Amino acid sequence: MTAPILSGDNPAAIRAAVSLLRDGGLVALPTETVYGLAADATNGAAVAALYAAKGRPKFNPLISHVTGLEMAESLARFNPLARKLAEAFWPGPLTLVLPRTPDCPISELAGAGLETLAVRAPAHPVAQALIKAFGGPLVAPSANPSGGVSPTQARHVAEGLEEHIGMILDGGPCKIGVESTVIGFDGDKPLLLRKGGLARENIEAITGPLAVPDAASPKASPGMLKSHYAPRARLRLQAVSPEQGEAFLGFSTSKNADLNLSPDGNLLEAAANLFAFLRQLDASGVSGIAVAPIPDEGLGEAINDRLQRAAAPGDIA
Ligand code: TXA
Ligand code: MG
Repeated sequence: MTAPILSGDNPAAIRAAVSLLRDGGLVALPTETVYGLAADATNGAAVAALYAAKGRPKFNPLISHVTGLEMAESLARFNPLARKLAEAFWPGPLTLVLPRTPDCPISELAGAGLETLAVRAPAHPVAQALIKAFGGPLVAPSANPSGGVSPTQARHVAEGLEEHIGMILDGGPCKIGVESTVIGFDGDKPLLLRKGGLARENIEAITGPLAVPDAASPKASPGMLKSHYAPRARLRLQAVSPEQGEAFLGFSTSKNADLNLSPDGNLLEAAANLFAFLRQLDASGVSGIAVAPIPDEGLGEAINDRLQRAAAPGDIA
């Protein structure tokens, strides 16, 4: 079975997607960060089918996608700082982990049994249109087999997951290209759980310095497995030039790059290109990919985080 790829700008495609979701089906949707694989967040059977499609470890909870603060407040309890962050950055690449409301309708399976819930309002117009037309929250992990590279174009979704999906909504290449930044709270103290598409500096302008729980802490995000986002080829980071058998993923003024994440040294452009370029070099059949150093500031933090995970040995799914 091949999933149809339909333009998300087409209202008939949105209606068809809503009806698939109501029937417990799975729909791939574009967001500004990466493509997500969406299911009705309140339908346990649909969520189970989603985990099965991704081959995802069940302890890894999902983000509920909402149109904005109003829908989110029926699901999770916002503290004042969380509300401030949502007001400043939603819709956008920021996920907030907050206590579930007492009558939260999200499936227990989607939350992996946790008392907290991750919520985010995506900025892509197609994602907004779909959630609005559906009229409730959609869970949506990145639309790739668990452990693989996240999709930033509709055809990447088709390459990895096609036979499990009812429909792929095409919204063009993702503008940001890395997953959302995840912020949780220890009491009222904000924690950086996942570096992502909203730079830490922007958040800290509102929160002050963010604490980063170490990976062993129970507060750490369950999804931050060491090996993740992994291509087949071995990655070698901080490389100045390629060795025999390697492709070279450059940045800025790198010489002899097979692909350059941003010849101008622009970190926004590099983030948007990252996953698509890793896929392209991996598909060329090389045994290794050498990656030029990326400055560890702004979106460079998220890029380096994903590169380190992609370089970590071990297969998780
Ligand atoms: O940009 C994104 O966030 C994309 C697009 C599709 O919206 N989605 C995405 O979802 O990256 P996923 O499922 O691949 O990542 C969700 C992250 C994981 O690291 C997970 O562990 C964390 O959010 N998370 C979800 N619920 C949590 C919770 N209750 N407590 C702590 N971390 C949580
Ligand atoms: Mg993912």
